[in-house]
Amino acid sequence: MKILIVASEMDGIIKTGGLADFTAALPRALADRGHDVRVILPKYKNSILPKLVKSESLYFNLNYSSRYASLVHYADIDGIELRLIEYHDFFSRDGIYDDGAYPYQDNALRFSFFCKAALEQLLYEKWIPDIIHCNDWQTAILPYYLKEHYPYHPTLRPEFKNTKTLLTIHNGEYQGITDAKWIDAIGILPIRFTSELMEEYGALNLLKCGIMYADAINAVSHGYYLELLEPQTSHKNLWLYLRKREQNFTGILNGCDYKLWNPKTDKYLNHHFSIKNMAGKSLCKSDLQAKMGLPLESNAPLFGLVSRLTSQKGFDYLLPALERLLYEDAPIQIVMVGSGEHRYSLWIHHLQKHYPHKMSFINGYDNGLAHLIEAGSDFFMMPSLFEPCGLNQLYSLAYGTIPIIRQTGGLQDTVLGLSYDYDNSNIATGISFGYPDTHNCYEALIRAIKLYLDHKSIFLQMQMRAMEQKFTWEESAKQYEILYSQL
Ligand code: ADP
Ligand code: GLC
Repeated sequence: MKILIVASEMDGIIKTGGLADFTAALPRALADRGHDVRVILPKYKNSILPKLVKSESLYFNLNYSSRYASLVHYADIDGIELRLIEYHDFFSRDGIYDDGAYPYQDNALRFSFFCKAALEQLLYEKWIPDIIHCNDWQTAILPYYLKEHYPYHPTLRPEFKNTKTLLTIHNGEYQGITDAKWIDAIGILPIRFTSELMEEYGALNLLKCGIMYADAINAVSHGYYLELLEPQTSHKNLWLYLRKREQNFTGILNGCDYKLWNPKTDKYLNHHFSIKNMAGKSLCKSDLQAKMGLPLESNAPLFGLVSRLTSQKGFDYLLPALERLLYEDAPIQIVMVGSGEHRYSLWIHHLQKHYPHKMSFINGYDNGLAHLIEAGSDFFMMPSLFEPCGLNQLYSLAYGTIPIIRQTGGLQDTVLGLSYDYDNSNIATGISFGYPDTHNCYEALIRAIKLYLDHKSIFLQMQMRAMEQKFTWEESAKQYEILYSQL
């Protein structure tokens, strides 16, 4: 099949979270299965450019009158053709989606422009895909353009006759809700701006538009798929829209890229390890403690975290739970790297200041440190309020770092929590809790400490079992392949 992946991030070029990992890994896994796969991304100011083959101009209309000229860069990453859409006014900014505090007010226009450019580029190159795979609100308007701006006509508009669209929801919290004043500029026909299709309380909801226009929709895990359909666990009205498309909605779990996240070969580590020889893991722990300025204690359980600093990740109950543990002088160490909301970084800095011998935090984005935290920690904290799939818990499993999770979405699908009486200790791979509050989170952290200090043999068995788990992109690609074929 000819498959186009359209996304706003790709690891190696530009990344804020797991969407980038997805865009880097899935095309590769699909190409390995014999498909002809291309990727189109915006070219941001801070994009790391691969070696470019050439650059060409692209001219097109976004509505009946506004004409745009953009530059398209051509590259090839290990046999996968990549196109980067450059347009100075929209993408040469310091941030990708926001200015550090607020989302850019013209985000709908910026990303609609990108989607239309993607379609125009396909026509220009005469490379017409069977499937266009869109991701999240940023590319959710593409199916609208495909169906409304290029309606099939046997002689006038034959190009996209057989092209089908899939919209993957990586995070339904972000829906691209925008003031209705933008609809004209982005080429939405007033007769289509209805509550059936894309209007919501007078505003334009881009994710809703994608859900209504895409040929199929999927969530990035089965658990999240189920949650999205229920009013209590969905995001605002998303369940209503998804229920209308229930026949064409499904869940497909992401994978872990074991070429990048492998304790045997990880290029960011000074010491390596595997199920057969775990000695390197303790050395990674010392490296991590040294790097983060913590005492080199080998017997204290080390709790790691790598995350965007946002309420999704459970900081509203995790931070009070950690604060209590630190106040009680629990025998633990904590390391964190994260960037995002100021209120959380302030709080974490405050903890670090008060408990510098137990807690260390780097406020920022650091891929090398993320790898060292995954490798050197004993536990990985991921108690998310909601988690569509989650990749970090997959990385921690691979490094024998026991994930502490809340039972939600993709976390619940990939980690089996140890029961209170250790009854399932021969199958468990993590520590979990249910209701999201400080008490439950604190209690889960205490269980982890006890497991580490008082039941070491069970802890070590769980570590081995965690490392045996496999969540491959090959498996995800097989599932996507089936879905594409059905379309
Ligand atoms: P989400 O996409 O919701 O942020 P995931 O677990 O799916 O969560 O993916 C997060 C990805 O981003 C992982 O690859 C993780 O290592 C990376 N990441 C997040 N924050 C940081 C950070 N501050 N420094 C380095 N890597 C980070
Ligand atoms: C989103 C989700 C995360 C998921 C990632 C990749 O950022 O928050 O759970 O793993 O997308 O699909």
